[in-house]
Amino acid sequence: MSGDEIDLGKRNMITGAVVATGGVGAACAALPFVSYWQPSVAAQAAGAPVEVDISDLQPGEQRVVEWRRKPVWIIRRTEEALKSLQGHEANLRDPESLESDQPAYATNETRSLKPEYLVMAGICTHLGCSPTYAPEEELESGWTGGFFCPCHGGKYDLAGRVLEGVPPPKNMMVPPHYYLSDTVLLIGEDEGVA
Ligand code: FES
Repeated sequence: MSGDEIDLGKRNMITGAVVATGGVGAACAALPFVSYWQPSVAAQAAGAPVEVDISDLQPGEQRVVEWRRKPVWIIRRTEEALKSLQGHEANLRDPESLESDQPAYATNETRSLKPEYLVMAGICTHLGCSPTYAPEEELESGWTGGFFCPCHGGKYDLAGRVLEGVPPPKNMMVPPHYYLSDTVLLIGEDEGVA
């Protein structure tokens, strides 16, 4: 396992322990709809790109898939979610994602190929916990919801951009991906690289 690949089982245990001890705070008050999708055993073993059908993903819904032992989130953002990304750059550590990990096509305000869909590794850039999807929370002024990491209070907006003044050093990572069709994503590979 390489340095940036964090054991999914251990991370989930850490997050579960924090939840069990009540460390999550207000961010878990509203639980958005989350669905899970598991690639085939052969695809997991090979670390191969993962094909995901998103035709039934509803606005606001989060889907979690596993790629190279990482949880990858696919979130269909609502119009309100997209609006929330604007006008709070001063509260962000790296608003233009200049020091963060993403393909060139995701170095934009929404950090995505299509504004409506966010594809992102669900791993906090501090010590690797898995943050909570909290799209409508407002834990402090200037943050209209996004992702909250219960381990040490990391906060990100709905493009995975980290707020100033919290422990994570950079925005969450966007893996290589592209659309095979309007409703099918391939995660783990850039277009034309196969
Ligand atoms: S691991 Fe997320 S804030 Fe520390």
